[in-house]
Amino acid sequence: MIAIPTRDWGKKLRFAGSFLRRRLVHVNLQLLYTCNYRCRICDFWAEAYRDKPRLSAAQTTVISEKLNQIGPQIISIGGGEPTLHPELVEIVRALARHHFPVMISNGSMMTPVLARALFQAGMVEISISLDYADPQKHDAQRDAPGAFAKAVEALEILHANRTHPEQRVNMISVIMDDNLAEVEPLLRRCEEMGITFLLTLYSRSRGSKPARPPAADVSRQLLDLKQRHRHFVALRGYLERFSQAITEGGVGPCHTGRNLCNIDSQGNLTLCIDRLDDPAGNIFTDDMRVIERRLRQKHRANPCRDCWTSCRGSIESLLYGKRPWLNLLDYFQMTRPVPLKGRF
Ligand SMILES: C[S@@+](CC[C@H](N)C(=O)[O-])C[C@H]1O[C@@H](n2cnc3c(N)ncnc32)[C@H](O)[C@@H]1O
Repeated sequence: MIAIPTRDWGKKLRFAGSFLRRRLVHVNLQLLYTCNYRCRICDFWAEAYRDKPRLSAAQTTVISEKLNQIGPQIISIGGGEPTLHPELVEIVRALARHHFPVMISNGSMMTPVLARALFQAGMVEISISLDYADPQKHDAQRDAPGAFAKAVEALEILHANRTHPEQRVNMISVIMDDNLAEVEPLLRRCEEMGITFLLTLYSRSRGSKPARPPAADVSRQLLDLKQRHRHFVALRGYLERFSQAITEGGVGPCHTGRNLCNIDSQGNLTLCIDRLDDPAGNIFTDDMRVIERRLRQKHRANPCRDCWTSCRGSIESLLYGKRPWLNLLDYFQMTRPVPLKGRF
């Protein structure tokens, strides 16, 4: 039996120490840019990224060790589509040695064998993207016929193949101008499946994407839904600021570089996924403490407040939110164990 890293109390205590000292605790990692979908809201499948190399399992082992020099991280594995990487299970195992790997996927490649292997390797949480309750709308947004059905199937497979109650399976939606009304039907699907629901606000910060803001009272609507659906586990502190992000064009100050950062498929560390052209260093060639210092310098000089995506929104609500106890309570719901054969 493979030890489940989520039970590693030493790692959890070190993580809590970093959290209390407001250090780096969350890393987004693009393993590769290859993707089998052509989502209208994303451009990682476009020409500019197509020929970038992917990270190997050996390189990810180096990343895991080097990040551990500054403490355990929540490492969000993305891309591109991470399940297209042939060494994904090895990569998760390498990251889980010191960190808490989580993953976002479109669900298209999920099988019971892969789901089991990923959880056995130490994956803590997997979120499957689903933006519309109407299958046709979701398939059109992803430019992939059958994407909706694949995503629902993946959620069921994943939930049934967890190997430890602390491992969580979420549906995650990007909130835009045309899908706020889809959230309640999506929440009902989550309830039927016994899984939980997260969301993130659409960002136009990378490339040249159109603005797609939902209605300005989006926070009130989402908080109302959260009150009525316990499967909706996004933090209240995060949801409360959606309307501000819409009316003010973002939320500031941004704490990327201090509490979170991005690593791309070449090992470059940047403030965030939308700033890939301005690295603070490379994890394979530079000293980790030097990179950490440079990330903090970039954080202090960063005027950007353009997005309110869930990676920064959740961490910042916990660290700097107005009602820390309420957010902590929500965080407990977001991460509490779900019995292996049970439902949330
Ligand atoms: C870039 S994708 C990579 C993982 C995987 N291919 C997927 O589709 O879930 C990671 C997450 O970002 C979301 N996303 C894509 N474009 C976005 C945008 N412009 N703003 C906010 N989130 C976005 C996706 O829906 C997905 O939930």
